[in-house]
Amino acid sequence: MLGKINIAIDGPAGAGKSTVARMVAEHLSFLYIDTGAMYRTLTYSALKNNVDVNNGSDLEKLLNNIKIEIINEGTGQKVLLNNEDITPNIRTGEVNKLVPHVASHEAVRVEMVKRQKTLASSGNAILDGRDIGTHVLPNAQVKIFLTASVDERANRRHEEQVKKGMHSNLEELKMEIAKRDELDTTREIAPLCKAKDAIELDTTFLTIEEVVWTIINLVKKPIS
Ligand code: DC
Repeated sequence: MLGKINIAIDGPAGAGKSTVARMVAEHLSFLYIDTGAMYRTLTYSALKNNVDVNNGSDLEKLLNNIKIEIINEGTGQKVLLNNEDITPNIRTGEVNKLVPHVASHEAVRVEMVKRQKTLASSGNAILDGRDIGTHVLPNAQVKIFLTASVDERANRRHEEQVKKGMHSNLEELKMEIAKRDELDTTREIAPLCKAKDAIELDTTFLTIEEVVWTIINLVKKPIS
């Protein structure tokens, strides 16, 4: 594939999008943008400033007054809110629960999509989220829709949390993931759905490396 290209990765929570996107970006020296982290940052800021997550216009005002930066370093990512490192604060149970509500407002999405398009405008970017192939980068040269069963996604999250020494309840995780799927796929504005021209990859029985190399081969294929 000649020239600069963009890659869109969409799919439900826990399908491995961020891990896969980060690894593909590293192999190809692409810019990786985790768009979920942007919605999470706004959610964290709303909690801190007592802004109601059901009030779209208040959230819009808040968003217009904050700077969100995502900095990729090595194998990890740092998230800055108005220059302050808030990386651990955007993955709490409270943010997990409220972020689908924040992401459901049209005014919020319009501004986020604008920022994401700007970030990707120089090309050679890989973005992951829910609406990348359908709204943010409708002309992306490679579009992937990553899925995995609810049980498998819950198992992966469970193992991750146990490894970190965190409390984890598998049945609760299954319910939480199913609930987030429902909110993300049934919301009115830009619901999670596969773009017509996206390639669906069910990762239930695939390793991370297999998924990463499938995507890299798709990117490289048209070159040879
Ligand atoms: O990928 P994640 O779990 O960090 O996403 C957090 C939430 O943000 C999730 O409820 C879906 C929403 N989201 C979205 O609506 N659009 C995106 N492009 C990315 C995330």
